[in-house]
Amino acid sequence: MTAKQNPIQQTQVCQIIGGSIGKLIARQKSGKIIEIGELLTSDLDENQYAIYQVQDVYYSTQMEQRTIELISGMQLENQESDEIEFFDSELRAYNIVQLKCLAIIEKQAENKFKIKTPKTIPNFFSNIYPINEKNLIFLKKPNRPLYFGKLRSGSKIFNRDVFLDADDVLSHHILFCATTGKGKSNFIKNILWNNIELDSNGILVLDAHDEYYGRGTKKGLKNHKNAKYFVSYYTNHNCPQGAKTFFINIADLKPSHFNAIGNFSDVQKEAMRFYYNLFFKDWISKIFDDETTDDLKEVQKETNLVLRRKLSQILSCTKKHGKLEFNDIFSLEKGQRIIQDIADELENGKSVIIDCSHFSGSIEMLVGSMIMEKIFWRYKNYSRNGQISNKPIISVVIEEAPRVIGRDVLQRGQNIFGTIAREGRKFKIGLIAITQLPSLIPREILANINTKVILGTEMQQEREAIISTTSQDLSDDSKNIASLNKGEAIISSCFVPFAIPIYCPLFEDVILKIKKNESKVKESVFGME
Ligand SMILES: Nc1ncnc2c1ncn2[C@@H]1O[C@H](COP(=O)(O)OP(=O)(O)O)[C@@H](O)[C@H]1O
Ligand SMILES: [Mg+2]
Repeated sequence: MTAKQNPIQQTQVCQIIGGSIGKLIARQKSGKIIEIGELLTSDLDENQYAIYQVQDVYYSTQMEQRTIELISGMQLENQESDEIEFFDSELRAYNIVQLKCLAIIEKQAENKFKIKTPKTIPNFFSNIYPINEKNLIFLKKPNRPLYFGKLRSGSKIFNRDVFLDADDVLSHHILFCATTGKGKSNFIKNILWNNIELDSNGILVLDAHDEYYGRGTKKGLKNHKNAKYFVSYYTNHNCPQGAKTFFINIADLKPSHFNAIGNFSDVQKEAMRFYYNLFFKDWISKIFDDETTDDLKEVQKETNLVLRRKLSQILSCTKKHGKLEFNDIFSLEKGQRIIQDIADELENGKSVIIDCSHFSGSIEMLVGSMIMEKIFWRYKNYSRNGQISNKPIISVVIEEAPRVIGRDVLQRGQNIFGTIAREGRKFKIGLIAITQLPSLIPREILANINTKVILGTEMQQEREAIISTTSQDLSDDSKNIASLNKGEAIISSCFVPFAIPIYCPLFEDVILKIKKNESKVKESVFGME
């Protein structure tokens, strides 16, 4: 490596000895440690260098298997021969490293770089070095930078921030995929926090575990210094100061909202639409009304009875003394403006967190559908009348995304989340889908989700599902993905030049650092006074 590009002189860790463009083979230098996922580099000429990623490391030797077994036997069985060494051991037994060339970086002028896809292979016996921060200056901050984490090389973390353009990534959907416990929620907390830093895009969070706002001493979005302007929290459970209670007026429900739940047959759906068209905002009450049912010849009595049973289960309602009574978040009187209010907040760039931890999954999806349908139609109108360019992007965070964009539910009928996945980007509406089972999401929807944040994923089938739809070719990265620790991730997106390995820190640590810095600033201002 020339002194010009790599002023921190490092010794080589391996040397190219074969392979092909996507799979280079190098011999590891003895005494050096090379990790799977690590980033390495080599100079191609004066102005170009390559960036490689380690995909595998394995043993190789010049000796015959029988000789190796004999040496091992001598060392194991004869304690005094612990020090039995064989001649030129580091020359005869060594590691082979399998590398993928991620990109070629061409320096065009001072601080101007072109990132190219590799089309040639480096020279035979090229020396390969660990990457250093100087090799990474080509990673630039975009216009509307949404911070994702620090650049990572294997398990080493660089002091180099990775940003993606918020408008690009949020409108083109993001998928977070990982086995439980690998840090999906932690990552989302960081993203939500960083989004507030950005003058905010609207994000609706259907918070199934009530983990994002930060209850009591737990840290969350409430700890942001701008939380009162940019965060809105709805809960019906021990409502803390600043939070709002959450009731939905039954008149705001439409038959289409139930598509996200997917347990209605075509005949039942048709009957629901029939009631809606006839009675509009009163349609649910009318389904439970005996007189109406007797008079309506178009809907069979059996269908009406099934609808009553299903709706009373989902909406947690019963009919008492001729009147519908609701036990959960639905109401005949309360919450008349709640859906509009939430839509307005999102349109004003707020993060709206709804504590869904006390709802059933069906209610969570129903609430999400109501809000997102409202937003979708509003934004479609803005698009028609040319106002959309002034509007912020609106995204929706969905845990266990296959519940609404899974193959099964979509086969039973389209719902708003599927529509957003397919055409939301035209109207600046995006999904932030979270799952540990991407294989349940149809391929065309996965392919439509342009940014994938892949955290540690243990099941091979799930790794394959995600790998087969990423923007970059990750077909040889399965082992790398399986070996990711908590917070370690790979971002594959059409908005990054190659799949970028990053580390997303623990949210609590980030907050601690920020709060320390904020109090330092306060102290120094006080000192000046
Ligand atoms: N980047 C990280 N560094 C250290 N610990 C982490 C990190 N991310 C998550 N954790 C820890 O792992 C646990 C599970 O993380 P979580 O984000 O809830 O995972 P998931 O949502 O994927 O199930 C958390 O309790 C947290 O303490
Ligand atoms: Mg989680």
